[in-house]
Amino acid sequence: MTQTRDARTPTGAHRALPPSHGAAPRLVAVGGGKGGVGKTLVAANLAAALAQAGRRVVAVDTDLEGANLHTVLGVGAPRMSLADYVAKREPDLRKLLVDTPIPGLRLIAGTHGHLGAPQLRSFRRVALLGELRKLPADFVLVDLGAGTHPSVMDYFLVGDDGILVLTPEPTSVENAYSFLRAAFYRRLRLAMTSESARKLVNQAMDQGNERGIRTPLDLLREVRAIAPEEGLRLTAAIQGFRPRIVVNSVRSAEDVRLGFAVRSVCRKYFGIAADYIGYVNHDDAVTQAIRQRRPVVVTHPHADAAVYLTRIARKLLENGGPGRTTRAARATAQVGFAARRPTA
Ligand SMILES: Nc1ncnc2c1ncn2[C@@H]1O[C@H](COP(=O)(O)OP(=O)(O)O)[C@@H](O)[C@H]1O
Ligand SMILES: [Mg+2]
Repeated sequence: MTQTRDARTPTGAHRALPPSHGAAPRLVAVGGGKGGVGKTLVAANLAAALAQAGRRVVAVDTDLEGANLHTVLGVGAPRMSLADYVAKREPDLRKLLVDTPIPGLRLIAGTHGHLGAPQLRSFRRVALLGELRKLPADFVLVDLGAGTHPSVMDYFLVGDDGILVLTPEPTSVENAYSFLRAAFYRRLRLAMTSESARKLVNQAMDQGNERGIRTPLDLLREVRAIAPEEGLRLTAAIQGFRPRIVVNSVRSAEDVRLGFAVRSVCRKYFGIAADYIGYVNHDDAVTQAIRQRRPVVVTHPHADAAVYLTRIARKLLENGGPGRTTRAARATAQVGFAARRPTA
């Protein structure tokens, strides 16, 4: 299912034109370990900013417990939601699309009023991810729930972009690292095909493991020793994992630097190249916008937070525009593979 719809010119510059109809959308997942750090803020505003830039955008609320994306996008009690897909009342995601007040931006709302609703089982999650790729849009922005459950991780891993949102609070930074760690190991585990290599990855995740696997490098060494070809797959999986970092609610230059610190931990500890794609100021305009039930890029386009959010959206546009990368295609295949196994 590889598609060659890369919207970049050879120099990497984005072509100004939206893609032709029928092309698969670019899937952008917005996560971060902790609740309240601004995942919904970032997802809603990137979606709105991309729509303002003339792209066809769908925002999807997969936070089955704290669904509130519809509220910040100005959609009151949605008639339909992802709950209808989860409960198998509606297999066609297109029928769940609702308009928002923002031209070009539509929404698939979250499970409203279904506290404790079961998360989608991995097998159906794969089906859902496939359906998201078929939506008539240039961009699909997925707002994730908190935590590091596989149901959250899979969206983050199969997206063309996985955006990690954190704030400069120690608790958020800590959760961001556990989120990265969980995503990293899930990605590696999904890339392994032999049971013994998967076992090693599981052991690496267990900090009290007896084999002395402390770092991803230790893991690579062990996997290479038992199966060299799995070692190659592991290396490829590490190289293909490229989370994008957004620091939200910054109030100082030091807060801004946090993104660089996280990037360098990613490189030193995991050997992965994370991108620091931007930060967003702590801004009263955000609170005001939420009260007006609109994204801040719509209500206060000149406020600091809006300017920085728009800048991040522009970066997404510059980074290849719509389209599904081979990396993402591979990741979806891997998640699908895992979903077929009882241990996933
Ligand atoms: N940059 C910001 N400036 C001011 N307030 C913010 C900012 N980011 C988030 N907030 C506040 O934090 C709350 C939680 O944000 P939200 O996006 O819902 O977090 P999450 O989706 O991660 O749980 C918002 O309702 C808002 O009041
Ligand atoms: Mg949220």
